Amino acid sequence: MASSLSDVPPWVAKWNLRWLHRLLVSSIGQKFIMGITGLLLCGFLVGHLTGNLLLYVGAEQFNEYAEFLHHQKFLPLIELGLLVLFLAHLYLAVVTTQHNRAARSQNYYRRESKQGTGLIPAAPHSWMFISGSVVLGFVLLHLIDLRFALRPDFDYEALATPYATTVAALSNPLSRMIYFIGTIFLGFHLSHGFGSAFQSLGLSAPKYKPLIQTASIAFAILIAGGFASLVIFVPGIAEPPTPAAMASPEAPLAK
Ligand code: HEM
Repeated sequence: MASSLSDVPPWVAKWNLRWLHRLLVSSIGQKFIMGITGLLLCGFLVGHLTGNLLLYVGAEQFNEYAEFLHHQKFLPLIELGLLVLFLAHLYLAVVTTQHNRAARSQNYYRRESKQGTGLIPAAPHSWMFISGSVVLGFVLLHLIDLRFALRPDFDYEALATPYATTVAALSNPLSRMIYFIGTIFLGFHLSHGFGSAFQSLGLSAPKYKPLIQTASIAFAILIAGGFASLVIFVPGIAEPPTPAAMASPEAPLAK
């Protein structure tokens, strides 16, 4: 990808995509995409948490919900969209962090407008990068556990249902700890990111700023608190997975 606005690759000129190129290489455009992808990911979190709250209702209801999701014709398309959103958000997080570092070292760029908002103390961009990285680590383990069924110490065949597999992941000491830390960092990330997205989209007139900041913190507490509650309470109230389903370090189960 070309790095300046005037220097465009031939395919950009050929397909008349200068507007897209401008969006991707300008810092305003990057912030805009960061904001849009962030808000769409927030939408995913609302849906994901709502579905997972069925773990409190019962195994049957949770399994029916999982079955329903798995039978959706457009599921692969939605998953692809989600992956694109994650990757775009991640890519821009790295790019804007590099820009910020370079600008700070030359000492001609300060981001005073967004300093110290949400539940995080100062230098929000660095905090966003750190909290986002922790959330990424958690999501990777989470996908290995539940989406790709790749944990060598889980016997997925014996677990058999989505409910049993999810409870097994929430009860496993390693996953439990990482999920808990991940959801707390998710809360920090959202407490600044939710409001920051509105600002990046140009939707934060000064008089609405306190409202947006309060909404951002409330959203973060609701989402992170909701997910963390599953980690804390579900293993205690759910039917425990059968001992044969979980491998012990002495006798690892072959998958
Ligand atoms: C801590 C409580 C959580 C529980 C119990 C939970 C449960 C699940 C389950 C059961 C699946 C598998 C869906 C399937 O069968 O394909 C899944 C997938 C997924 N989860 Fe979670 N989740 C939790 C938190 C989170 C959080 C906080 C995030 C994001 C920050 C997240 C992101 C994802 C993603 C991206 C997928 C893959 C979606 C797909 O490809 O269909 N989860 N989760």
